[in-house]
Amino acid sequence: MAESMKGLKRTHRCGELSGANVGETVTVMGWVQKQRNKGGIIFVDLRDRSGLLQIIFEESDCGADSFAKAEKMRSEFVIAIVGKVEKRAGAVNENLATGDIEIRAKETRILSEAETPPFPIEADSKTKEDLRLKYRYLDLRRPDLQGNLILRSNITASIRRFLTEEGFLEIETPILGKSTPEGARDYLVPSRVHPGTFYGLPQSPQLFKQLLMCSGYDRYFQIAKCFRDEDLRADRQPEFTQVDMELSFVDVEDVIDVNERLIKEVCKDAIGLEVSLPLPRIKWIDAMNRYGSDKPDTRFGMELTDVSAVVSGSGFSVFTSALENGGSVRGINAKGQGSMPRKKIDALVDFAKGYGAKGLAYLCIEEDGSYKSSFAKFMTEAQLADLVKAMDGEKGDLLLFAADKTNIVWSVLGALRLELGKQMGLIDDNRFNFLWVTEFPLLEWNEENNRFVAMHHPFTMPMDEDLQYMDSDPGRIRAKAYDIVLNGVELGGGSVRIFQSDVQEKMFEVLGFEKEDAYNRFGFLLNAFKYGVPPHAGLAYGLDRLVMLLVNADSIRDVMAFPKVKDASCLLTNAPDVVDGVQLEELGIALNLKEEATE
Ligand code: AMO
Ligand code: AMP
Repeated sequence: MAESMKGLKRTHRCGELSGANVGETVTVMGWVQKQRNKGGIIFVDLRDRSGLLQIIFEESDCGADSFAKAEKMRSEFVIAIVGKVEKRAGAVNENLATGDIEIRAKETRILSEAETPPFPIEADSKTKEDLRLKYRYLDLRRPDLQGNLILRSNITASIRRFLTEEGFLEIETPILGKSTPEGARDYLVPSRVHPGTFYGLPQSPQLFKQLLMCSGYDRYFQIAKCFRDEDLRADRQPEFTQVDMELSFVDVEDVIDVNERLIKEVCKDAIGLEVSLPLPRIKWIDAMNRYGSDKPDTRFGMELTDVSAVVSGSGFSVFTSALENGGSVRGINAKGQGSMPRKKIDALVDFAKGYGAKGLAYLCIEEDGSYKSSFAKFMTEAQLADLVKAMDGEKGDLLLFAADKTNIVWSVLGALRLELGKQMGLIDDNRFNFLWVTEFPLLEWNEENNRFVAMHHPFTMPMDEDLQYMDSDPGRIRAKAYDIVLNGVELGGGSVRIFQSDVQEKMFEVLGFEKEDAYNRFGFLLNAFKYGVPPHAGLAYGLDRLVMLLVNADSIRDVMAFPKVKDASCLLTNAPDVVDGVQLEELGIALNLKEEATE
């Protein structure tokens, strides 16, 4: 039977007590981690979000009633204890912050009993994630998840503090907005009042924050919920949080400056990490050429080498035909991996195929200087020697080459580099390599739709010197866009915005929007620009990703209280779920499900 708390007030969290409190009478409340009955003495480990504390029950101190309650206690019972802090009589537990003290119980209440939980509440759980997510409220009791969420709260507080001191105003923007899909799919919400119409949930506060600049707020930020209906991965959720900001009367350097100081402060506050400024920068084209990625992990080398010129005269048609088709041949040198067994090399070839490669050519440099290779027979000794030299190849190295359209070569070798970096243990988990990637292309050619799409978003300003190519060669325009990358993860991105209506209209034209369509979708922004708009720029971080990296979690699910799984459902609440016919009727919605969807 549950007892009330009446007359009791918690004085401390478990982990807040230490040797300094010895002799005090305290009141603690929390969950039973473990009860051990040693006959005349019962020990209980009490847990709350701050840690564990040992309680000792002896009938002579606590009386028969308290002792009987202690005998009944099971894991996850919620209890309140009034007792005296004492130096531990038994051995000090070095693994516990409160390991040198214990509470000698005087008064005991069982506030709530508990059934046996479906999995133990402990750090480094071996329980399958699906089961943990179904009982997320129990999972969230585990100390590692509690640590993550506490750190997340500290990080958010630190961000708010810094930005407020820098003169940013925190302003909320609507969740029920207008659907303007570009990039991911929108989540839609039907309107009851206007049947047949829908709100779109924001993929980001982009348009509203630009309107706030038009309205003169000059430095805005928001910890904003964003929604994107896209395929999920370890670092993607359908609903996630951005630290979003926008600034007026600024250019690229101003945004980078304030954000570098923000990063430095947050890392110091949150995990005591000293980040030295300025952060390194790399142009997009150099990131692609060197790492095959626009979010390079620079914690290790193994950079890509363009060997197109070296192999152009060879007799290996895989290489030469790629070059004839306008592609390139590039390689990476897996140092010291020359004796990799054939089976493992074949696995790398399959891995490369997963990223769109037609194959992967390899060359092992044996200890005696001879080559074991899938293509050596098509090349002369001199050509091979040149290739090995270009790759900095030495005895014992494994050289891997991809030949194709350059963007495929980049993505294949970029992924292979990361895979080998992991396999070869080259990645130091204790390093935090921040990096700006700048000068992104403004546009990206979309084969499927046969048109350009904005690489960042359609409001991104072209670089001044490239504006001239807007009509003649839009594909070569670079943007005033920048991403901030940490250890190979895109942490945030932003850009200087177009603030001239004519440039914005031109941009929509290049993107293939009819003028009317552009006005239908974004007219409110284009109109706002007609009434006095300051030059402005901004950036947004993925807060979940930032926290994930700072706590070294494998997935953003580990830093979100109630995440969704791969198919975007919530295992705890069973959302999304069917709704009442009446609700649908009110909304004027009739379902027209395909067979398999209703099964
Ligand atoms: P962008 O689309 O690059 O830019 O998003 C900014 C950052 O948000 C994070 N992010 C995600 N995190 C978790 N799950 C997702 N599905 C997800 N999608 C994005 C990433 C990303 O870098 N409005 C612009 C910003 C601007 O220009 O100011 C924007 O949304 O860390
Ligand atoms: P093939 O002529 O298809 O038997 O290929 C000979 C070797 O070249 C094999 O090791 C293939 O894996 C490799 N190869 C095939 N296509 C490519 C490519 N596009 N880039 C690099 N290597 C390739």
